[in-house]
Amino acid sequence: MNEPSVDKPLEQWQRWRTVLAAERLPCAVVDLDAVDHNARVLRAALPSPGPRLRLASKSLRCPALISHILSLDPGFQGLLTMSAAETRALFELGFDDLFLAYPASRPEEATDLADIAARGGKLLATVDCAAHVDLLDAAAREAGTVLPVAIDLDLSLPLLGQHLGVRRSPIRDAAAALALARHIETRSGTVLRGLLAYEAQVAGIPDRVRGGALLDPVRGLIKRRSIPLARRRRAELLAALGPLPIVNGGGTGSLHSTGLDPSVSEVTAGSGFLCPHLFDGYEGLPLRPAAFFALAVCRQSDRGFVTCYGGGYAASGPGGADRSPLPWLPPGLKTVDLEGFGEVQTPLDTRACPVELELGDPVLCRHAKAGELADRFDELLLVRGERIVQRAPTLRALGRGAEGGLLAPRVLI
Ligand SMILES: Cc1ncc(COP(=O)(O)O)c(C=O)c1O
Repeated sequence: MNEPSVDKPLEQWQRWRTVLAAERLPCAVVDLDAVDHNARVLRAALPSPGPRLRLASKSLRCPALISHILSLDPGFQGLLTMSAAETRALFELGFDDLFLAYPASRPEEATDLADIAARGGKLLATVDCAAHVDLLDAAAREAGTVLPVAIDLDLSLPLLGQHLGVRRSPIRDAAAALALARHIETRSGTVLRGLLAYEAQVAGIPDRVRGGALLDPVRGLIKRRSIPLARRRRAELLAALGPLPIVNGGGTGSLHSTGLDPSVSEVTAGSGFLCPHLFDGYEGLPLRPAAFFALAVCRQSDRGFVTCYGGGYAASGPGGADRSPLPWLPPGLKTVDLEGFGEVQTPLDTRACPVELELGDPVLCRHAKAGELADRFDELLLVRGERIVQRAPTLRALGRGAEGGLLAPRVLI
């Protein structure tokens, strides 16, 4: 089976129908029992003894949910954050041990980070060039503090003239890292404390293509070549730079292989806790879908079809059908090719659905990605069994949404 199994999907849909009976739709829900199951799966994927797991805040974007996951296992520690303002916001909410994985490029971002360090926060800021360092150095000296930094090492795989991986850091070998480390040493406001080395082409690509039961041989080849390359590059860099307290790698899809690298002190994961549909199809990760949005059936134009209100929540990344949400419960629903998930309305083909959907009924759908769901809603309803146990504000609601840059009060017109 290529899809994660849904036990008794009709009963599950009935359960959501009960949970959401008095809710305004559309809304976003998180099934805490499934989150807890996924936490156990991710924990088991990490070698033991092995590195700790750092949570990717961008894949959750909801402080209460982050706190819940951190409480599940003593090996889950710290956050990998996505922007300077979001990092500061999380610090102000009480989170510590923050590793900003994407470099600051504006003075105000550097000031946010220096402010955290000056207030005693445990923080690492990512750099990949001298200009990043100089920006942080100036802000740190201004704030009378020293900012710990991590060098971002590129782990993309050159294969048949292709660049397989992300285009982020120009640091690809020990010589480049050493030159940057020397530059960091010349600055009194920064100190080198870590390495970020993320093998995106292993961590972020499922082993099976959606709809296929078999492993994808090309992806397999890319992963088989990338895993030893990542291990070699990390080791070469650390041999040149000397040991560093934090060496971060991986993501949900590479917990096991990254965790086996003896150079690595921590592995990042975020998406796996919620299992959005792009995270189906990883070998050895029997994750359960845990986050959904619910749309209300609002009309019926033809027999065998219903139309729901809302739903056009496409995910970022290379445009394509896989970025679209997936109708999930009740089972058997399909989108209509000419419309897909619409800006205001989403028609669904119900001919293979075993229940007769009525006006106002909820349809549960899965987003393609984990964190972006939280950018569509002000709260996530955290659910256990048939009970909403918490209405958890998202970072968007707290005014620190997707880019994290919005710290000003929200203006209501
Ligand atoms: C630096 C870094 N580490 C780890 C991850 C993996 O996070 P997730 O487990 O949510 O896929 C990402 C995702 O893009 C990333 O950018």
